[in-house]
Amino acid sequence: MTAGAAPRGPDNPPVQTTALAAPTLGSGAMFDRIAARYDAMNRVLSFGLDRGWRRRTVRELQLGEAPRVLDLATGTGDLAIDIARMHRDARVVGLDPSPRMLAVAQAKLVRRGLADRITLVRGDAQQLPYRDHEMDAATIAFGIRNVPDRAAALREMARVVRPGGRICVLELGEPRQGLLARAARFHTHHVVPRLGALLSGAREYRYLQRSIAAFPPADEFARVMAGSGLDVLTVAPLTFGVCTLYVATPAEAP
Ligand SMILES: C[S@@+](CC[C@H](N)C(=O)[O-])C[C@H]1O[C@@H](n2cnc3c(N)ncnc32)[C@H](O)[C@@H]1O
Repeated sequence: MTAGAAPRGPDNPPVQTTALAAPTLGSGAMFDRIAARYDAMNRVLSFGLDRGWRRRTVRELQLGEAPRVLDLATGTGDLAIDIARMHRDARVVGLDPSPRMLAVAQAKLVRRGLADRITLVRGDAQQLPYRDHEMDAATIAFGIRNVPDRAAALREMARVVRPGGRICVLELGEPRQGLLARAARFHTHHVVPRLGALLSGAREYRYLQRSIAAFPPADEFARVMAGSGLDVLTVAPLTFGVCTLYVATPAEAP
């Protein structure tokens, strides 16, 4: 289904459409409810650190000339925008199941003059509408946590990226050791849900805390990646492990 004749608005962003996720916590339907405040909340809850984490992710892609890049769980499009800004000849596809997150993204693309280089697609990371090796690189930022079958999404990334192309997964986690671990856990468990609920009026931010706590430790998730058709190149803790950047490439066929 492709958005076409229907008038454009939050429910009908100008995006291509494919499979939809079920309306459960972490799904596109949940993110529909917080889309309008998502960007402001992101800045506040991460103390603005999310911007630097995304730029580092783009650098790790090591893109060549005129690359085609797929940004999964693109949400309001910040990582897709960073890719397009840091690589003026890149063409980017941002895919997400939430029409309202995509509507916010589309407005940002238009304001920044990037609508001709970034295409927004409504879809599910677990089943990508792209051919094998069609992309030069793929990313997913703060999104893999929300995908019900993470291995399926990782396998899809391995499938659509060309051999040698890079796949970057950026995800929040709970630092388990070190001086700042306790402070970071307090922030995640007490500040994030309360501030989130206060500022956005949405209970969904409690899900954020629970899903971060439930996400596997970095070495365990790296093993999930390795078991899903990826060669993991680096696993880098960012800001004392509050966030982890996983860099991989499709595994060579045996
Ligand atoms: C926390 S937001 C991240 C947005 C953006 N990547 C960023 O850096 O801010 C998580 C996104 O994951 C999306 N999502 C949930 N389930 C998904 C799925 N099965 N496939 C792809 N995206 C999904 C949600 O709609 C939401 O926009």
